[in-house]
Amino acid sequence: MDSCCVLGDQPAIFLYDQLQIPGDKSISHRVALVASLANNITDITGFLESEDCLATLQVLKALGVSITRKGNQVRIVGKGRWAPPTETLDVGNSGTLIRLLTGLLAACPFEVCVTGDASIQKRPLKRVLEPLSEMGLGFRKEGKGAALAADITAPVFLKGTKDLKAISYKMPVASAQVKSALLFAALFAKGTSEIIEPVKTRDHTERMLSYYGADVSKKQQTWSLKGGTLLRNPYEEEPIVVPADLSSASFFIVLAMMQSRGAVTLSNIGLNPTRTGLLDVLKQMGIGLKTTLISHPFEPVGTLTCEPSPIKNSAIPSHLVPNIIDEIPILIVLASKGAGEFVISDAKELRVKESDRLAGIERLFKAAKLPIVMAEDGLTIVGPMQAETFVFDAKDDHRLAMSAIVLALAHHVPARVTGCASIATSFPNFFDLLTQTGARFRLED
Ligand code: S3P
Repeated sequence: MDSCCVLGDQPAIFLYDQLQIPGDKSISHRVALVASLANNITDITGFLESEDCLATLQVLKALGVSITRKGNQVRIVGKGRWAPPTETLDVGNSGTLIRLLTGLLAACPFEVCVTGDASIQKRPLKRVLEPLSEMGLGFRKEGKGAALAADITAPVFLKGTKDLKAISYKMPVASAQVKSALLFAALFAKGTSEIIEPVKTRDHTERMLSYYGADVSKKQQTWSLKGGTLLRNPYEEEPIVVPADLSSASFFIVLAMMQSRGAVTLSNIGLNPTRTGLLDVLKQMGIGLKTTLISHPFEPVGTLTCEPSPIKNSAIPSHLVPNIIDEIPILIVLASKGAGEFVISDAKELRVKESDRLAGIERLFKAAKLPIVMAEDGLTIVGPMQAETFVFDAKDDHRLAMSAIVLALAHHVPARVTGCASIATSFPNFFDLLTQTGARFRLED
C-alpha cells in the first residue's frame, strides 16, 4: 500500500449504500488461534485479510498447523497441539497476536523466540509475562535471563511447560488481550483458573472457547475456566462467519455523520455488547441509531443504521473507555464538529497502543490548527471548530492515519497524511471503500 494520502477539494455528496466492511480483526485472530488447537477442521469465511491477521496464519503455519486460504475463506486443520517452530515467530505490528500467542505458548514445552516490528518492540509485555510466569511460563531476553522490574518488550524467548498451574489473578489493567492470554493458558493448566477484570472488556475469546467446548463461565467480574478440555469445532460442516468489524466501520460512520447527508446502513456487522460502546457514545452525541439482531452461533451480529443529526458533545463516562478504546481517535474527530465540551479521561491505555495515540491526536489537532487541551490520561476540546489545511505523519499507526483522513474529508480541507501504509494492518480495502463514497484523494509513495 502507498504510504501517503493527498486529499484535495471534495465533492459535496457521498454515497454509502453499498459499503461492505471487512471481517472483525479481534475475532479473526481468535478463530484462527482456537481452531488451530481444536481436534478437527474449521472453515472460516469473512476472515480479515489484513496484515495483522495474516501474520496470525503465518505464525500458526510456522507452528506446524495446516492452513489453506482463498481470499477471506480459510480452512484450518486442528490437531490439538503445535509443533516446535524452526524460526522466530514474527507477529508484525499486532499487539493482539503477540499477547494471545504468549498465553498459548505458555502451554508448549519448547523454547521459541517471538518478535515483531519496531512498534511491537516498544509495547509492554510485562502485563502478560508476569501472571503467565506465575503459571509456569519461562522467558528470557537474548542470551540471558530477564527481570520483570522494568517493562519487558519483544524480542523475547519463551519456554512453556506441560505442567502449567491454574491461577487466580486480579488484572491491574482493563485489557482483553491480557485476559485472553490468561484464559488461553488456563485452558491447558491443572485446575480452575479465575481471572478478575477491573472493567468489562471484549469477550470474543470467552465466546469462542465456549463454542469449542471449553468450560468457561462468568460471575460478576470474575471469569472461571477449568483446564483440560479438548477443543472441538461443534459444527464442522458449517463455516464460521466472521462478522464485519464495527471498529473499522466507525471511520465511515463518523464520516457520514459529519457530512449530514442521509443515513448509513451496514449489514452483518458485529454488535457484541462489549464492543458497542461506540453506539452508546454516538447516541449520547445525538446520532439516531437503529439495530436489528440476526442469529449467529456465538457473536451478536446484525444490521446497523445511523441517521445524522446535529452533534452534541459531552464527557465520555469512564466505564465506557475500555469498550471504545480503539474508536476514541475517530470519536474525537467527530467531536470537532459537535457543539460544546467533549472530554475524555481515564484513557491512559491509549499511550501504549500502536503509537501513543493521545500524543498523535494532539499532533493532528495542532497541525490542523484546532484547539485542544491535553491531560496525561485524556483531553478536552470545545466544538464546533473548523480545521485548516494540514500535513500529518501518522507514524505508521493505522487508526491515526484513518482518523486524519476523515478529519480532512469532513472539514473539506486539503491535507497530506503520511504513514498510511499501516492501514493495511487492519483495513486493507479502506481506500477502495473511500473511493466508493466519492471522496477525492491520491495515493503516493
Ligand atoms: C484487542 C484488545 C484491545 C484493543 C485491540 C484489540 C483484542 O487492546 O485495543 O485493538 O483483540 O483483544 P487491549 O486489550 O490492550 O486494551
